Amino acid sequence: MEVKSRKHTKKMHTKPKSIWEGFFKDKTHGGHRYSSEEFLAMEAREKLFHLDGGKTLLDFGCGSAELLTYYAPEYEQLLGVDFSPSMLGEASKRISERKYNNIDLILADHETLWENLDSDFDRITAAGVVQYLTFEEIDDFLAKASEYLSTDGKIVFFDILDPRLYPLWKLGVFTPNAGLLKALYRIGCDFQTSVTATLKNRPRDISGFTHNPYKIQKIANKNDFEMCYVQSMYYEYKYHAIMFRT
Ligand SMILES: C[S@@+](CC[C@H](N)C(=O)[O-])C[C@H]1O[C@@H](n2cnc3c(N)ncnc32)[C@H](O)[C@@H]1O
Repeated sequence: MEVKSRKHTKKMHTKPKSIWEGFFKDKTHGGHRYSSEEFLAMEAREKLFHLDGGKTLLDFGCGSAELLTYYAPEYEQLLGVDFSPSMLGEASKRISERKYNNIDLILADHETLWENLDSDFDRITAAGVVQYLTFEEIDDFLAKASEYLSTDGKIVFFDILDPRLYPLWKLGVFTPNAGLLKALYRIGCDFQTSVTATLKNRPRDISGFTHNPYKIQKIANKNDFEMCYVQSMYYEYKYHAIMFRT
């Protein structure tokens, strides 16, 4: 069976528009805690629980479709969007191997995505992506997403970095061998990594920005969505924002 792929025909831009586009341009995996299929399947099951149905789904920042392929059996039609050609290349392979013919892929970013859409979606989701957007970009994304969301639709942002918990995770507080010396060692390593990254004008690592849930909730409310947030099941320092119309 052929994978349907309506990849963007025109080139988005020759130079990366942001440091994140540059960072992801040759990446092939989404940076999940474990890369085993067993773990990805567990993560996807948790996410499907929160997505809670719908027939059509848009996965923004789908990466190499590590979750999207687990969503596929549950939806009639799915669209994966990402600005990284290498990620979409891997996604395409993964989809072909699993013989799914209900997934389309588009090379686009948070701004160019919308001009490629010609139908509404019951679910618009993004897993581990919001940390690469500023609050202003999230606001614009929600305003646009609202235009392409079906009446009873839901928007779910998975795995947003919680600024109250992320520093503790960085210090190793959630590891089995947590302690003061280990924490100091981690601070030292982190400082060194930050300096090197700043000098090379590139991100320190894949993590991105933290976003306070109450700030995301304010933005959701501004765009006429109610929002509830729940703790991520597999990442101690991340949360999911579940948005629906008021
Ligand atoms: C951490 S990975 C997660 C991938 C996938 N959602 C998963 O859970 O396996 C983040 C993905 O978001 C994509 N991404 C980040 N910012 C984006 C943007 N502004 N527009 C489109 N894709 C973006 C990256 O290229 C990358 O594939």
